[in-house]
Amino acid sequence: MSGLDQTGDSMKYRVRVLNQVSTNGLKRLPSERFAVSADAEEPHAILLRSADLHRAPIPDSLLAVGRAGVGVNNIPVAALSARGVPIFNSPGANANAVKELVLSGLLLAARNLDGALGFSGRLDPSDPELEARVEAGKKEFAGYELAGHTLGVIGLGKIGCLVADAAIKLGMKVIGYDPEITVDAAWSLPSTVKKAHHLGEVLKHSDFVTLHVPLLEATRNMIDAAGVAQLRSGAVLLNFSRGGVVDEAAVIDALETKRLGHYVCDFPAPHLIGRGGVILLPHLGASTREAEENCAIMVAEQVRDYLLDGSIVNA
Ligand code: MLT
Repeated sequence: MSGLDQTGDSMKYRVRVLNQVSTNGLKRLPSERFAVSADAEEPHAILLRSADLHRAPIPDSLLAVGRAGVGVNNIPVAALSARGVPIFNSPGANANAVKELVLSGLLLAARNLDGALGFSGRLDPSDPELEARVEAGKKEFAGYELAGHTLGVIGLGKIGCLVADAAIKLGMKVIGYDPEITVDAAWSLPSTVKKAHHLGEVLKHSDFVTLHVPLLEATRNMIDAAGVAQLRSGAVLLNFSRGGVVDEAAVIDALETKRLGHYVCDFPAPHLIGRGGVILLPHLGASTREAEENCAIMVAEQVRDYLLDGSIVNA
């Protein structure tokens, strides 16, 4: 292929690695065929995690993009497709990591750990009232158990189905709904999950609602003021998908009126910072060693196979 680096008799594809792509994944690009670096000029492939490609010029040399993650919001999909450049991602490779963080979110909210974890920092060991303060803390942060409560799972792809399965194992009741696919076509849903056919059915009957949908025009603000108004009083909303799926103003109102007990959000949404009942995480869902490695391996292998023999999976 023209434009390849010549090293002796071998030809190398230039791969630009933008950010946070695990080196174990990059090892899947054999050095005799690929020259991999952060500043590769005229790259044939770009591998990235969360870097924003929207404002970056698309090099004429580009043949493929690999996103070590699931969502492709940070990539100009239409512009690349118009140029015939496939985008590879890694569906499922970080699903277990996200599921585990969702479980942490459920527990943080149910046991008021957002407040309770700061409790010891407020104590003074020489305080004669120490025992009374500990007793007061017990009351202040008393929570409830997940078992027996209902979790609504919106979005029944790999992550949503893993979350549903884990919640059932914890003794929760689960209602599942997906705006794009029928619940029967869901990736792998435990048989005990109640199948909802409308969003409202989930919102009305759940103590916790967790969102696992991509951000599309159809899902933007899918939880709006009308949706929030249908939630059970004191319900917990968890958003581990994308910020735009939830109308933040509606969430703020619902927290103020206590309709919403907690909003657990895996994005640093500026308007929510410092508000009571809000647990904000810096997009940590996929941030485990295992998930980062799985995602990087999956996209590196796809890009490698596409460049070397034209095979396409997940583009
Ligand atoms: C995803 O879309 O899979 C996540 O945004 C992963 C990440 O944090 O990179």
